[in-house]
Amino acid sequence: MSEVFSVEFGREDIRRRIEELGRTITGDYRGREPVLISVLKGGSVFLADLIRQIALPVAIDYMSISRYGGAAESLGRVRIVKDLEQDIGGRDVVIVEDIVDTGLTLSYLISVLESREPASIAVCALLDKSARRIAPLEIRYRGFECPDVFVVGYGLDLDERFRNVPDILAIHDLESLRSDPDLLAPYLPGGGPAPEDR
Ligand code: IMP
Ligand code: MG
Repeated sequence: MSEVFSVEFGREDIRRRIEELGRTITGDYRGREPVLISVLKGGSVFLADLIRQIALPVAIDYMSISRYGGAAESLGRVRIVKDLEQDIGGRDVVIVEDIVDTGLTLSYLISVLESREPASIAVCALLDKSARRIAPLEIRYRGFECPDVFVVGYGLDLDERFRNVPDILAIHDLESLRSDPDLLAPYLPGGGPAPEDR
């Protein structure tokens, strides 16, 4: 195991947890047709796997946002770069996120979506980095509690890399990885001998 990174959540654990989340959501929304909304780009991998574990008619939609400076500077205010294609008025909305960190972006987004008068809004986040939360918010469906360390893989990036790593890796030395991104090559699909700690 490297000092630069370690496997935080392996692909099998992720798969099993998403199965459970899908079952729970299926039970909670029985008889309804929720709209699952993913915030590009990180949440798209999670959304793709999650919808295949939900046994209900679901709609999906995407939003893309860009920040004014860092999340903390902008207090979460974002510019909507790509808006939803569907009208969510009267619908049950589930926001599907890869990770909730400070919560600033998401709480702002929730206030924007609430103004469109959906029947309900719930948050489903694969990872909850609760130690860093600034804006309190309810995460109704949570995959895992995430330690306060930078993570990549399963949709999460470092400078747009590593979204395609099937596991979630904790990065302990960002500078080393930035200067040698090939360190994670064994974790890419088909990247050689099966890494340990899966
Ligand atoms: P926040 O909750 O407003 O601070 O922002 C959350 C967003 O920051 C997430 O949707 C991710 O795009 C990004 N992010 C936060 N923590 C990490 C991490 O550990 N790795 C990769 N992206 C992260
Ligand atoms: Mg995100």
